[in-house]
Amino acid sequence: MADPRRVLLTGASRGLGAALGRGLAGRGHSLMLVARSEAQLAQRVAECSAAGAHAASCTADLAIAEECERVARAAEQRFGGIDVLINNAGIGPYRPFTDHSATDIVRIVALNLMAPMLLARALLPGMLARGHGHVVNIASDLARRPLANMAPYVASKFGVLGFAGSLHRELRARGVKVTTVLPGIIDSSFNGAVEGGQDARWAMPTADLARQVIALLDLPPHLVADEIALHPVDGDY
Ligand SMILES: NC(=O)c1ccc[n+]([C@@H]2O[C@H](COP(=O)([O-])OP(=O)(O)OC[C@H]3O[C@@H](n4cnc5c(N)ncnc54)[C@H](OP(=O)(O)O)[C@@H]3O)[C@@H](O)[C@H]2O)c1
Repeated sequence: MADPRRVLLTGASRGLGAALGRGLAGRGHSLMLVARSEAQLAQRVAECSAAGAHAASCTADLAIAEECERVARAAEQRFGGIDVLINNAGIGPYRPFTDHSATDIVRIVALNLMAPMLLARALLPGMLARGHGHVVNIASDLARRPLANMAPYVASKFGVLGFAGSLHRELRARGVKVTTVLPGIIDSSFNGAVEGGQDARWAMPTADLARQVIALLDLPPHLVADEIALHPVDGDY
């Protein structure tokens, strides 16, 4: 796939998504940044533009199915097509299962599992028509490992792995790659944490992880990373 590429990045306002945006901007890619926080997204667009990227934002709650379609269309219209979809937005409250409300459960599954499917569904026809594309899903090492007090989150990430692996097998002969990233603990603002300052041996700095994810976009056409797990060396896994 030729550079620069046109990228739709979800969860771009902070955490790993913000680091991915910065890293992609430095490579000159065109970026459609998506999240709910308008002010934070505006800051990210300014940073990415200053780094030389053609950056725009679309504010959306991706737990709402119709918003996924709207965001995909806005991105395609803005850039004339999308080459790379990075499904990064995610939520995962840590609490006993019965302390999750019904709404909590629906929103976790809607954002973490349904939105990646709906965005892929909306953008894949364009990628397939052009004969190239890449869908990158940020799952979790919990996509393979059950954990108490995170049952809906873990279920959604198991689902992402199943969806993405199946899609990979369906599309690999048609020029579109599907990659699932399974990170361990990230030093981000996930679940109310304060980003930055954690020991890098226990929680991966977002810039380090972003660099590895972006490198996956540079694999030659005949190579695909369908699944990749990355952990801090002393992480609990
Ligand atoms: N942190 C970890 O230890 C860890 C480990 C493994 C995997 N992961 C995964 O890594 C990905 C990135 O997480 P992170 O650690 O960077 O978390 P984070 O700092 O909390 O960032 C989450 C991002 O998702 C966006 N988001 C949340 N709800 C949204 C919604 N309804 N619609 C649109 N965007 C929404 C947030 O923006 P707004 O609030 O502005 O919408 C934010 O940009 C997630 O998929 C997460 O599951 C995290």
